[in-house]
Amino acid sequence: MPEGLAELHVHIEGTLEPELIFILAERNGIALPYRDLDDLRSRYAFDDLQSFLDLYYANMAVLRTAEDFADLARAYFARAARAGVTRAEFFFDPQAHTARGVAVHEVVAGLSDAVAGARREFGIDAAMIASIVRDRPVPEAHEVFGELLRLGAPIIGLGLDSAEVGYPPSLFEDVFARARAEGLHVTAHAGEEGPPEYVWQALDLLGAERIDHGIRSLEDPALVARLVDERIPLTVCPFSNVRLRAVDSLAEHPLRRMLAEGLAVSVHSDDPAYFGGYVDDNLVGLTDALGLTEAEREVLRRNSWDAAFL
Ligand code: HPA
Ligand code: ZN
Repeated sequence: MPEGLAELHVHIEGTLEPELIFILAERNGIALPYRDLDDLRSRYAFDDLQSFLDLYYANMAVLRTAEDFADLARAYFARAARAGVTRAEFFFDPQAHTARGVAVHEVVAGLSDAVAGARREFGIDAAMIASIVRDRPVPEAHEVFGELLRLGAPIIGLGLDSAEVGYPPSLFEDVFARARAEGLHVTAHAGEEGPPEYVWQALDLLGAERIDHGIRSLEDPALVARLVDERIPLTVCPFSNVRLRAVDSLAEHPLRRMLAEGLAVSVHSDDPAYFGGYVDDNLVGLTDALGLTEAEREVLRRNSWDAAFL
């Protein structure tokens, strides 16, 4: 097994730190609706997934050019290297950018430029997963996926994210079938706020090879048995679950129960600039709150490599 950790559940737009928001706003001549850094930081208290997504999408206004996306990814890699990450499979949300007039090629050019230099500059083997924004129109998902193919975007997989409840995986069966036909890997957010039924759909209708979050799977013993039998990885993000109120506190996080059930869980950061820390911070937080042992941390590390699209 390689050294370090495989970070498999991080949204590159969710690594956009407040300081970089101000730097990019200045560079691009964008007037921010915040007085200063403290004013912006005061808005990072969330009630649920949607209240986070509102700020997450609003802050993306500062990302305009390929250079902006490259700077965003390089800043993430620098921080991830300090967290011990040696493989980073990160999501990006093309529709979050096309919907506000930024072309897919700007996004892909910037991110792929940073990815190409990540091993040399930061010792990180990086790879991109395009993610469908599920609360946008289904035809748009097809258009954006087609554009990624036309551009020859160096993506390794297709994901599904954004507002979960009311937007079941079943809506996206066709676009994921196209992705599989292209030889791409498939992963989907399910069972974060949505019900276990969405995890079943991600597996059976989308062909998901891993499930992002999936913590609500615990409500359905038959689903747990399926996930255990097939060793389907669940990429769990503890700080995210607490900050979005899927879980009351870190001490009450079901991670240990998931391990005890035999689920292939690993720990990740989701949107580290918004949820209080990167993957190392999540592991330290869990160690303090749950008393995770060295051996349990090693299981989580090993699971991250087993789950990687390598
Ligand atoms: N859940 C769903 N969609 C997202 C998230 C998340 O935690 N972060 C960015 N997009
Ligand atoms: Zn996520």
